[in-house]
Amino acid sequence: MILRDATSRDAAGVAALERDLFGVDAWPLPVVVGELAGEDREAVVAVEGDTLLGYACTARGGEVVDLLRIAVHPARRREGLASRLLAAVRDRAAEAGAERMLLEVSAANDGARAFYAREGFAEIGRRPRYYKDGTDAAVMQLRLGGRE
Ligand SMILES: CC(C)(COP(=O)(O)OP(=O)(O)OC[C@H]1O[C@@H](n2cnc3c(N)ncnc32)[C@H](O)[C@@H]1OP(=O)(O)O)[C@@H](O)C(=O)NCCC(=O)NCCS
Repeated sequence: MILRDATSRDAAGVAALERDLFGVDAWPLPVVVGELAGEDREAVVAVEGDTLLGYACTARGGEVVDLLRIAVHPARRREGLASRLLAAVRDRAAEAGAERMLLEVSAANDGARAFYAREGFAEIGRRPRYYKDGTDAAVMQLRLGGRE
């Protein structure tokens, strides 16, 4: 397994995982292409040969970096892949001078919320009915550069 920067050749694999994991909130292929290639975007993939195991995408805006997505193939969870993907995009954000990382996660997504909490994110707010299925989002924040 290696981690590397995403390229346009990863878009189809990312879009397929999006469909499987995020249902009505999945990014369609043209959105994935834009997210992997955008100027203020960072995207890292975990791959084994030609197989996509997971990915993380961020968007930079001033001192804040938004974690737009992090996902791991269901067959490869609890192996530390998401931790490694998050470390990769977190290090890049800190090197680029960002002071905090923010994310929205479904309030119903206990697994992801446990993962983020273990990685040091703290819940700082809620966005009611943020997702298309009507569930709320929890807004979580991680201070970068050891300033928690
Ligand atoms: C959330 C997600 C990215 C975690 O990926 P992962 O590769 O399994 O996570 P890791 O193996 O790096 O987990 C590191 C630690 O986080 C915590 N953790 C991860 N998943 C967890 C879960 N489902 N329940 C409770 N704790 C969890 C554990 O402490 C874990 O360490 P441990 O396995 O030694 O107990 C993965 O479950 C996923 O892709 N979910 C679907 C997509 C999603 O909801 N993404 C987030 C919103 S964009």
